[in-house]
Amino acid sequence: MYRKTEAHIDLGAIRSNFALACSLAPHSKCIAVIKANAYGHGMLRVAEAMQDVAKAFAVATIEEALELRNAGINNALLVLQGVTTSTACKVAASNNLSLVVHSPEQIESLIEARVSPKVWLKIDSGMHRLGLAPGDVANACKRLDAGGIKVQVACTHFACADALDSDATRQQLQSFNAATAGLGLPRSAANSAAVLGWPESHADWIRPGYMLYGSSPFRVDVEAARKLQAAMTLQSEIIAIRTVPAGDSVGYGARWTAERPSIIGTVAIGYADGYPRHAPNGTPTQVNGRPAPLAGTVSMDAITIDLTEHADAAIGDRVELWGPDIAVNEVAAAAGTIGYQLLSGVSSRVPRIYS
Ligand SMILES: Cc1ncc(COP(=O)(O)O)c(C=O)c1O
Repeated sequence: MYRKTEAHIDLGAIRSNFALACSLAPHSKCIAVIKANAYGHGMLRVAEAMQDVAKAFAVATIEEALELRNAGINNALLVLQGVTTSTACKVAASNNLSLVVHSPEQIESLIEARVSPKVWLKIDSGMHRLGLAPGDVANACKRLDAGGIKVQVACTHFACADALDSDATRQQLQSFNAATAGLGLPRSAANSAAVLGWPESHADWIRPGYMLYGSSPFRVDVEAARKLQAAMTLQSEIIAIRTVPAGDSVGYGARWTAERPSIIGTVAIGYADGYPRHAPNGTPTQVNGRPAPLAGTVSMDAITIDLTEHADAAIGDRVELWGPDIAVNEVAAAAGTIGYQLLSGVSSRVPRIYS
C-alpha cells in the first residue's frame, strides 16, 4: 500500500483479552463474538488466531457463518439472529451451524424444513428486541421437541449491563432464571459488560464481543477492564503542513478558527475510512507521542489537526487516531457515538496489518 493509512491489528492482544474473559468466568464456557468482521478487526484472521482456544464463535448472520465454514473454520458456530426461511434452516443444518431461535415463526420454519440443527432458544427477559416471551417458553420447547429439534442452550441478552448502578440487569436475570427454571438446559446471558461487571450472570456460556478487542464497555473506570489491551491501532500520516494566521479558518464550513498564528497538519484519513464525521474540534489524535487535537470538519479523505505545539512535525509523520495511546471510547465519546460503531465502521479502504 502506498497511502499509509492502516489499521494495525494485534492478534495477541485479542487472545489475551479472550483469556481474561475466560479467567473472569472460570466455570463457564466462552463463545467468542466475531460478528461484523470481528468488530472491524477481520473476521477470518481473528477466527484463525483463536480457533485453538475458543470453543465456539458467534456471528450475527448465516452469511458470516458460511464465510467461516468455507474458510475451513471447524469450531462450533452460532448464528445470533438465526434464520427466517426453511431453505436457510437446511443450509444451516448441512453446515453444522447452531441457530438462535427467537420467534415462533423461526420454530415453524425449522419444523417445515425437517432438519434439526442445534438450537439456542432466546428468551426476551426485558430488552424487548428479540426473544420469546417468558410465558411462551414451555410451549416453544414442546413444539421443538415434537419436531425432533433439540434445544442446546437457553439464552437472553441484557439491555443495560454497562450501567452497574442500574437495577435492570438484576431484573432481567431474575426473569431469565424464572423462565428457564426446570427446563434443565444450560444457560447463557453475559455479554462483555456482564462478564466484567455481573459475575452472577455468567451461567454456562459467556458471550463476550467488545472486550475481546480491548476496550471497556463501561463509561466509568471498572477495575476488571483495566487489563484489556487495545487490539486495533488506527493510524495515518501527515500529508501537508501549513501556517494559518490568527483569525483564518480551516476546512468545510470554516468551523475551526485560529486564535493565534497556527500550524495545521492535514492527515490522510477521513470519514470514508470510518473516522467519525461528527468528531468535533479538539477530538484527540497523537503525533510523535504528543496530543494534536482535531481542528476543523472531518472530510471524506482527510482531517486537519493543530500542530502549533509541534515545532518538529514533518510530512510523513505518523498520526494515531485510536489505539493503545488514545482509547477508541474517548474518540467515540467526543463524536457522540460508541467505540463499537467506530471499530466496526473502519472501512474496507483501510488495510488491516496483522501482528
Ligand atoms: C446476542 C448477543 N450476544 C453477545 C453480544 C456481545 O456483546 P458485547 O460486544 O457487548 O460483548 C452481542 C453483541 O451485540 C449480542 O447481540
